Amino acid sequence: MGAAAVAVIRLRNPPVNALSLTALQALEDGLKRADADPSVKAVMICGENGKFSAGADIRGFSSPKRHGIALGPIISLIEKSEKPVVAAIEGIALGGGLEVALGCHYRIAHVKARMGLPEVTIGLLPGAQGTQRLPRLIGVPAALDIITTGRHIPATEALKLGLVDEVVEENTVEAAIRLANKVIGQPLGPRRLSLKPVPKLPNMEAFLREALVKVKKQAHGCLAPELCFQAVKAATEQTFADGVRKEQELFNILLTSGQAQALQYAFFAERAVQKWTTPSGASWKSASPQPIHKAAVIGLGTMGRGIVTSLVKANIPVVALEQNLEYLNMGRKAVMLLLEREAMKMEQGAQTLRFHNPARLQFTVDFDVLQDVDLVIEAVFENMALKKEIFQKISRICKPGAFLCTNTSALNIDEIASATRCPQQVIGTHFFSPAHVMRLLEIIYGLHTSATAIATAMQLAKALKKVGVVVGNCFGFVGNRMMFPYVQQAVFLLEEGSRPEAIDQVLEDFGFKIGPFRMSDLAGLDVGWRSRKGQGLTGASLPPGTPARQRHGHRYSPLPDLLCENGRFGQKTGKGWYQYEKAGGRTAKPDPWLHNFLAQYRDTHHIKTRFIDQEEILERCLFPLMNEGFDILAEGIASGPEHLDVIYINGYGWPKHRGGPMFHASTIGLPRVLAKLQKYSEAHPDVPGLRPSAFLKKLVAMGNPPLKDWMSYLSRQSNKL
Ligand code: 3HC
Ligand code: NAI
Repeated sequence: MGAAAVAVIRLRNPPVNALSLTALQALEDGLKRADADPSVKAVMICGENGKFSAGADIRGFSSPKRHGIALGPIISLIEKSEKPVVAAIEGIALGGGLEVALGCHYRIAHVKARMGLPEVTIGLLPGAQGTQRLPRLIGVPAALDIITTGRHIPATEALKLGLVDEVVEENTVEAAIRLANKVIGQPLGPRRLSLKPVPKLPNMEAFLREALVKVKKQAHGCLAPELCFQAVKAATEQTFADGVRKEQELFNILLTSGQAQALQYAFFAERAVQKWTTPSGASWKSASPQPIHKAAVIGLGTMGRGIVTSLVKANIPVVALEQNLEYLNMGRKAVMLLLEREAMKMEQGAQTLRFHNPARLQFTVDFDVLQDVDLVIEAVFENMALKKEIFQKISRICKPGAFLCTNTSALNIDEIASATRCPQQVIGTHFFSPAHVMRLLEIIYGLHTSATAIATAMQLAKALKKVGVVVGNCFGFVGNRMMFPYVQQAVFLLEEGSRPEAIDQVLEDFGFKIGPFRMSDLAGLDVGWRSRKGQGLTGASLPPGTPARQRHGHRYSPLPDLLCENGRFGQKTGKGWYQYEKAGGRTAKPDPWLHNFLAQYRDTHHIKTRFIDQEEILERCLFPLMNEGFDILAEGIASGPEHLDVIYINGYGWPKHRGGPMFHASTIGLPRVLAKLQKYSEAHPDVPGLRPSAFLKKLVAMGNPPLKDWMSYLSRQSNKL
């Protein structure tokens, strides 16, 4: 009980006060007690430990006793209360947490609090009347934005929108009790959101039409945003009670759609990968990160620029180094442009000043400047000799404890480390392009990498607002290694009769933001060409007499090499798998030249063109990618399927509502994946990527266990060895 007449209800369920069944029951009991007690004149609801609530307990959605909806009647109870109820929002009020606050008659928030309805991000919609109350409070456009994107909004924005009545800088709970005391006796009717009309728009119908188009476009096949839209639309057309019924109906559709399960799996997978371990026994539990007071980036090309930008945004002082003044000036200009664009995106213009503080961002060609940095990220050309030269140099120049990171996309971390005097300090930090945008940071430990180096790289990922995934050292690591067979199959399908646009379409319909050929045109075909030349697969180093479509006894497609030989590097040259309006153009158009070229190619190599249906395109591209994933797990390169899925969702545009490739394999059913791989492998015996992984076969033989149990079969298997 607070000052005399105000009853205090504190939501308590560490760490985020999720509304579990027990928490809900306690809330309901508290409300009923306050209602029955004549000495109570007002109620204040807050959360334990400086957090209001993160909403419904997400784990509860997969249990048979679902309670997402049970929250609704409790919120009605709050709103109907004859005694004023004030929400004191500290830390976070998300999902069902914010819906509780919307049921209260007054909302007061701490200036650092964040609010939102992130249900859409876990495949749901606000299912405790939030889709009906929010538009009544802040209008349809703002409500639609918050509900369909799930973004968190800061307290200051919430105040502007009218989502909260007051923002305070000091003790929110005390301020809420003061407010509760002040409003005792005032009429509650106008404070009950369910009784308010939804604010009208002069052009509501047109607005909703356009909003739906936008929501669908951004959803890439994810159902939740559209159903969130439908629920808000219902608020504009129906009474509160009917709107709530519609909300529940749509909520149930989502709950059983499969996409919600995938998105909730992805939510927990992202948290699971924070708890990294390595086969040698190093783990997040025992390793401590070192602080990074100053970092350096070597090489300011495509990747280096983005990495510098990321570090500056995270407020880490950076030294940016290039090989000569010409490249340095180019790099500096590019970084400044990126920083300016980033500053424009941020709320306060003041950020620009911070970005341009020369003391925090130094450009140089002098390696000696690296003496005092705590961490270096090398992003020079993908060339082993060059990388080794650089690592030898920096291990001499940098202070003894400095961490030496490489952004290589595939090269051997141990070989790079062998050039240094401190291989325990060497680690792969594989950023994804554009590095200041993409969330993934693949962190690769070598044979000698210390646990401290891994922990520090993970900490860096967090500071950069990225998701770090710790993996072992092999060619292409996890992400690119799984990508190789995917891209390879896409090209084989072209040989056999398909077209780039047909294949891209199938994968984009599946939910990828961009198909493999559009992606290849964007990244530049020359990148892979250079790498293949380096590997002796094409170009001058190819032994004479090598068959055009075979390497080392396996099927090989020279198509990407032939395109490069024709100067078709993708967007940058205006021509690749598609044609573009100009060099650097972005609008891909099917190219009759390419179609002709493919027809001639098939003639030359006596390949009979056949029609390839969508199912085959999808399976031929995705199943080998998953198959490689099973090999990666069996080799101990990643410590669980969640790691592979987090990598694919955050680095490769895999549709999150399909939970990642390994989760997807589990939903298809491993026996089916195996049978299809067997079938395709029989048809193409010269393609090793189609040969089913021994681990996949073992899991099928063990009765197709659920994904969470896969790794236990592996340890049993290796224990036996
Ligand atoms: N239910 C169950 N567990 C939750 C949870 C939730 N709503 N929110 C967070 N957790 C767990 C996490 O899994 C993690 O557990 P772990 O320590 O075992 O790994 C722990 O709480 C801490 O979470 P984070 O590691 O994510 O901590 P952060 O400080 O980085 O982030 C957060 C905190 C912003 C609250 C973030 O956890 C988050 O976004 N949570 C989800 C919020 C959400 O989606 N709410 C909507 C729920 S659905 C709903 O309310 C339906 C309703 O409309 C009916
Ligand atoms: P890039 O060719 O755009 O840039 C490399 C930069 O390194 C150039 O500016 C060059 O001047 C500089 N450089 C070369 N030698 C140097 C030296 N001795 N000292 C200082 N600077 C030097 O290359 P990009 O694409 O940025 O790739 C860099 C690294 O990142 C490579 O290892 C690549 O495999 C990897 N990578 C690339 C990705 C991409 O999408 N481009 C994605 C992920 C990793």
